[in-house]
Amino acid sequence: MSKERILVVDDEEGVRNSLRNILKDEGYSVEVAESGERCLEMVRSAPFHAILLDVWLKGRDGLSVLEEVIAQPRPPRVIMISGHADVPLAHKAGRLGAFDFIEKPLSLEKVALTLRNAVADKKKDERIRQLREQLDEGTTLIGDSRPIRELRQQIEVTAPTNGRVLIFGENGTGKELVARAIHALSARRDEPFVEMNCAAIPEELIESELFGHVKGSFTGAGESKPGRFALADGGTLFLDEIADMSLRTQAKVLRVLQEQAFEPVGGSTLRVDVRVIAATNKDLKSEIASGRFREDLYFRLNVVPLRVPPLRERPEDVPPLALHFVEQFSRAYGRVKTLAPEAVPALQACRWTGNVRELKNVIERLVILTPGSVIGLSEVRRTIGSEPEASPDLFRGFASLREGRENFERQFIQKKLEEAGGNVVRAAELLGLERSNLYRKMRAYGIRGGDGS
Ligand SMILES: Nc1ncnc2c1ncn2[C@@H]1O[C@H](COP(=O)(O)OP(=O)(O)OP(=O)(O)O)[C@@H](O)[C@H]1O
Ligand SMILES: [Mg+2]
Repeated sequence: MSKERILVVDDEEGVRNSLRNILKDEGYSVEVAESGERCLEMVRSAPFHAILLDVWLKGRDGLSVLEEVIAQPRPPRVIMISGHADVPLAHKAGRLGAFDFIEKPLSLEKVALTLRNAVADKKKDERIRQLREQLDEGTTLIGDSRPIRELRQQIEVTAPTNGRVLIFGENGTGKELVARAIHALSARRDEPFVEMNCAAIPEELIESELFGHVKGSFTGAGESKPGRFALADGGTLFLDEIADMSLRTQAKVLRVLQEQAFEPVGGSTLRVDVRVIAATNKDLKSEIASGRFREDLYFRLNVVPLRVPPLRERPEDVPPLALHFVEQFSRAYGRVKTLAPEAVPALQACRWTGNVRELKNVIERLVILTPGSVIGLSEVRRTIGSEPEASPDLFRGFASLREGRENFERQFIQKKLEEAGGNVVRAAELLGLERSNLYRKMRAYGIRGGDGS
């Protein structure tokens, strides 16, 4: 942990020095300023947790310095120090945003205690700010393609209404992110967002998960437990993989949607106010046709349908997403990486059958595995090569027939070399090529032979 940073501002050298020594002994990192002007300079150039600021300074007076410090983005806590008790002055400082007011002569305990409180208060603020940033990260849709712009617009229009939303999209396209974005933009934003993945919970537990149960209502129900509908009261319930619910559970969910009421297993009726957002990667129309999904539930859920398009329909989104994930994982792993511009088209040329989730995984791996600070084309090629889901789309990302053909040829040769266990003679046979011809191509493509050649 780095030390907490304190700035002492006083025009008397004796006061500055003694405060500095005392506070250093308390474990703080301390800097000093002899004037208001100098104080402002320092505050603008580096962050402090707290400032001890004398009211009576030569030049600019303490209160006007206070005002300007407080107006900074993410200001430190300011403790004003005055030569004598002055109640109106203390009040004025408080109104201007001072954290506290201490009189001279300074009592060591009083200074230490006030400073501890000020630093704790500042740190609490910072923690909240960080959490909020993380939350925002969980609800921001990256991408500027037309489909994503349209989706963002639909989200903005839909979110403030209480309407139910049904989100369609392949695996990993961002359905959950869309659900969270809707919640974050709705009037329910400060109430809970509760998620339930219907595919991940065994059928016999789903009812108790959704509706809760009362102690002793079935074998193993040792304690009463609230269900997700109750936990989401006032907020949003996200039912993921809705098509994986049994017909029996579907009937119960339908009833909650109709009446906003339900019974916990073994309990009596509860009323709730829950907005339901559902998602599926299946084609619900055909699930209905084959009798696996209730049509009436479909209509109840599908007040506003939103489709999240697969990544291959919006290749323009790959570069901003890739850069976003590089930044995100650089921060997470504490290792700053950048993506070489020439590596971006290779990412864009992939089919991404696993969509954004797949791209995100590939970038995470790249951030971890790339030894230098720049993720280059060769690292990207190597990682994509080991990722069947991400295999390059042969019809995208090449500027000419020649480039496409060469890319195919290189991969085909690599594949056959692998099959031949690196034996070039054997690979040449598999490829129906003269050995010398294969060597030439390998050199041209920078492919190294596995048998030392
Ligand atoms: N447009 C986007 N901008 C930023 N991050 C995204 C975007 N789309 C998806 N992601 C991220 O990709 C990952 C997969 O997204 P999400 O879980 O929302 O997809 P999903 O459709 O619910 O997937 P699954 O069907 O597998 O449950 C998440 O980490 C999500 O934050
Ligand atoms: Mg999901």
